[in-house]
Amino acid sequence: MMRDVNRGQALCSATSSNSLEVFVPQSLYFRLADLSEVTTLFDIRQAAIRQLSLTHLSACEAAAWAERGGTSRVERAIAKDEVRVAALGRQIVGWLHRAANSIEGLYVSPPAARHGVGTALIKLAETHIAQRGHHFVVLESSLNAVGFYLRLGYTSAATQCSSAAVAMRKQVAG
Ligand SMILES: CC(C)(COP(=O)(O)OP(=O)(O)OC[C@H]1O[C@@H](n2cnc3c(N)ncnc32)[C@H](O)[C@@H]1OP(=O)(O)O)[C@@H](O)C(=O)NCCC(=O)NCCS
Repeated sequence: MMRDVNRGQALCSATSSNSLEVFVPQSLYFRLADLSEVTTLFDIRQAAIRQLSLTHLSACEAAAWAERGGTSRVERAIAKDEVRVAALGRQIVGWLHRAANSIEGLYVSPPAARHGVGTALIKLAETHIAQRGHHFVVLESSLNAVGFYLRLGYTSAATQCSSAAVAMRKQVAG
């Protein structure tokens, strides 16, 4: 079942407040994920990690990351937090997991990568986080995605807790 279809708002927030040149296909839209989509989202997560993180991770490191959590991790995210998908028609091409002001996960289907889907999902999450009264977005970026977040205005936090992930944040209000 589809919940919270908000095409116009999402496309506006993905392009108008963004100084970057971002190509977002006109038919791309955003909605909340449904528990019936756990397997689809899990498969996108697997493919995204295993194929798109290899710029900075070994295949073994990528596999270890992809295998962490299994489908129950996706199920918990949908049930407890907020998972929003980007879809083209009936096909989901990316998804973002948000808990309060924290971006917990972002995955784009490899064939849809580098077309602005990840950027659009982040911009939408930033809007929701600011609307809920938070001043900062926080996240832990995998090494391969640091360049992606820097480009979107995120900075790395002074204290880093791990060599495999970079704590980053961005002010979105106040
Ligand atoms: C990181 C990720 C979400 C980016 O999604 P995307 O839809 O391809 O990103 P966009 O098309 O919006 O990228 C916009 C810009 O960000 C930069 N960018 C995107 N992916 C990048 C990467 N892997 N490394 C460096 N810069 C990147 C590019 O400058 C890109 O613009 P360009 O294509 O015109 O050069 C996607 O690569 C992915 O799912 N990776 C595997 C999972 C992952 O790392 N998730 C983040 C964990 S914190």
